[in-house]
Amino acid sequence: MLARISRLGIQAMRRATPGQNSLNDISRRHLVEAVTSHVNHMGKTFFCSNTSATSNDRSNELEAKISVTFIDKDSEEKLVKVPIGMSMLEAAHENDIELEGACEGSLACSTCHVIVTDVNYYNKLEDPVDEENDMLDLAFGLTETSRLGCQVIASPELDGIRLALPSATRNFAVDGYVAKSH
Ligand code: FES
Repeated sequence: MLARISRLGIQAMRRATPGQNSLNDISRRHLVEAVTSHVNHMGKTFFCSNTSATSNDRSNELEAKISVTFIDKDSEEKLVKVPIGMSMLEAAHENDIELEGACEGSLACSTCHVIVTDVNYYNKLEDPVDEENDMLDLAFGLTETSRLGCQVIASPELDGIRLALPSATRNFAVDGYVAKSH
């Protein structure tokens, strides 16, 4: 649209021959001012206000991270920043935290078992699906606030969550462990 306005202005100026008479000179000057002002206004609308707001929103979304503390089996704590949407298993791997994740998040192991230390945070999590519960039943050192790290996804309300790693994991998929019926 801007290109079209500019083109119209240039064509009009070409038609108005300079020096022909004083009326033409005045008309030409007014036309130039009008087109320039209009182009400036349109430029602001199209290229400044809208796009900067949108790109700010987008970059805020991309940069949003929450704080997560992992506590290893020796009670060593590590505070990491986790982008919204990333699983705790991925976050652990990115930060050299020893959380195995043998099946890479396909709910076929329990080696990504984590314990949410604060029940208030545990209650903020989505309920586990049946497959996660089945895997958790086989996890070593299961607690009331146990979850699989690959199923806990960073979201704003989880900012400040603390996750303890159990002292051991049981990899029945790889070790050949077979659950015994009670
Ligand atoms: Fe296997 Fe999470 S990595 S269930």
